[in-house]
Parts: sequence; C-alpha cells; structure tokens
Amino acid sequence: MDKPFKNVTVIGTGTLGTQIALLAGNAGYDVTVYDLRKGTLGETFARLRASIETKGIKPFVPWEQLEKVKEQIRETTDLDEAVQNADLIVESVPEDLKIKQAVFQELGEKAPPETILATNSSSMPVSLMEESSGRPEKCLNTHFYVILEGMNMADVMGGTKTTPEVLQKGVRWVRSMGCIALTVKKELLGFCFNRVWRAIKREGLWMWGNGYVDFKDVDRAWMTFTQMKMGPFGIMDSVGLDVVRDIETVYYNESKDPKDKPPQALTEKIDRGELGVKSGHGFYTYPDPEFAQPGFLDSTK
Ligand SMILES: NC(=O)c1ccc[n+]([C@@H]2O[C@H](COP(=O)([O-])OP(=O)(O)OC[C@H]3O[C@@H](n4cnc5c(N)ncnc54)[C@H](O)[C@@H]3O)[C@@H](O)[C@H]2O)c1
Repeated sequence: MDKPFKNVTVIGTGTLGTQIALLAGNAGYDVTVYDLRKGTLGETFARLRASIETKGIKPFVPWEQLEKVKEQIRETTDLDEAVQNADLIVESVPEDLKIKQAVFQELGEKAPPETILATNSSSMPVSLMEESSGRPEKCLNTHFYVILEGMNMADVMGGTKTTPEVLQKGVRWVRSMGCIALTVKKELLGFCFNRVWRAIKREGLWMWGNGYVDFKDVDRAWMTFTQMKMGPFGIMDSVGLDVVRDIETVYYNESKDPKDKPPQALTEKIDRGELGVKSGHGFYTYPDPEFAQPGFLDSTK
C-alpha cells in the first residue's frame, strides 16, 4: 500500500477523531492521539462500537481488529509530545472557528516545520485557519465521513496556498486507509459530497422544525428509497446534534438565508441535553433506536 507518511497525529478523539486514528492505525501508520481529556479514545471507541452494533452495521474493518489497533495507538495529553515526530497532523476538535484557529496556531508553533496540517472540519475551508499556522502551503482539508458506519470516503481540498504536492499527499493518505478521496478542485464551502448531504439535512430540519412533517417519515422514506439502515435524522443523531447545529450555523452565517438557520426546535433539543447517540437521546433514544427495530418500515402500520 502506498503510504505518504509514517507518523500521524490526531488532535481530538471524539466521534470522528477516534475513527480517523483507528483507520490510520489499521493502515499501518504509527498513530499518536492528543485530547484535552485523558481516556477519550477508549470512551469514544466503546460508545461507537455499542451504537454501531445496535444499528446492525458491520464496519469494513472487524471490531476485534480495531480493538488490537486501539491498543497500539499512543495517547497523550501533552501536545509537545504528540506532535514532535508527526509527518501529518489531523485536527478533529469541535466545529468552532476560534478553537480551530487556536489549534492551528499551536500546531504551527510546536510541530516540525515540514509537518502537514489537515482539518477534519465539516464546513470550514482551511483558508480560514491556514494563516494561524504560519505554514499555509502545508495546510489542507481532509473531511472524513462516519467511516465505521461504511461511509469510507473523505473530501480533500486545498487552501489558498496549498502546494499540489501537499494536496496529492492528502489524496494518497485518504486512499491508503481504504477511503475514496473526493477531490475538490477549487475552494468551495461544504466541499464535495458534504454539500449534497447538507441539502438533504437542511430540508429535513426545515420541514420538521416548522411542523410540516414527522421526522420519522423522512427517515422511513429515505431508508426505503436508498435501502440504507437509517435516515437523515438517525444520521444526525450519530453525528451529534450540537455538531450539526454548529455546522449549519457556519452555512447560515455565510448565506444569511433564513432557510439555512438551524431551527429553534433543534436548539431546544440541544439545550435539554439531547445530543443524539452520545447522550443517549436525540431524535431517537439509544441504544435501541426505533429505526433499528422491526416494524419501523412496516407498511401496514
Ligand atoms: N461527528 C461527525 O459525524 C463528524 C463527521 C465529519 C466531520 N466532523 C467534524 O469533526 C470535528 C470533530 O467532530 P466530532 O463529532 O468528533 O466532535 P466531538 O465533540 O465528538 O469531539 C471533539 C473532541 O475534541 C476534544 N477537544 C476540544 N477542544 C480541544 C483542543 N483544543 N485540543 C484537543 N482536543 C480538543 C474534545 O475533548 C473531544 O474529545 C468537527 O470539526 C466536525 O465538524 C464530524
């Protein structure tokens, strides 16, 4: 397998950072993870496994193998240690520009000068962070989807000064982990497939948030139409409703279109602590969401 790097560091081991770290370890990279809180890799792993197994989804790498990979990953809460040997650093911290810019600044100061910096942001182009790093030519977006649920793909996009070599290494890194690289040729808010998914998410949230439809019907239709095991609202629960709200807010701030504004009903859910799979309740209740139970698509009911 063609591998453009040896040592990879992931910053933030929540829902996505953990999946990226596991997949990188599985592909033979020497992986280090850093999070503000100790033990997040193991906690997130256990949560992901429970929720994905409940949905009846088998990751393309078996769980037993991922358990072994997890044991090989170096975990630290010391940023200097985390970045000292990194060829590539992928940040997967919350979808908040100020946090991401601060992380890019710290990485720019602490990582070796040749280290490439990638963001897993779901909505923000790396051009919003590249200057903070002091090395804009080595920055790029690599936006992974929920890999362990079978969405093995990532959008890859450069910033304003990213060199073609860095972009190409990003593509090779994505492919080396068994993911499809969706290359974006010039900077675009929302990247490639994320714009398509976003259109579905925005319409669903708007119809539900304004009382037009029951969210379960949207999911039933989607599951019947695509043969997927869950619909847009189930997927949003997996992503985390706070993360969804933050992503939608980035689009709204850009467009100022009222239809892009996350609905009030979503904010109320988040205020009640209903964050989706990670809090046990979102649109559905976990670990046994209604959409995974027999009868959800029963046409006689
Ligand atoms: N959740 C998804 O399905 C999904 C999909 C694609 C992309 N993303 C993107 O991935 C990024 C992370 O999302 P997530 O859902 O994994 O978030 P999450 O809330 O599950 O995890 C974020 C992690 O970052 C840690 N963190 C916070 N500030 C930090 C800092 N300064 N340094 C190091 N660690 C820090 C937190 O402790 C937490 O463990 C976001 O940009 C999001 O848009 C998420």
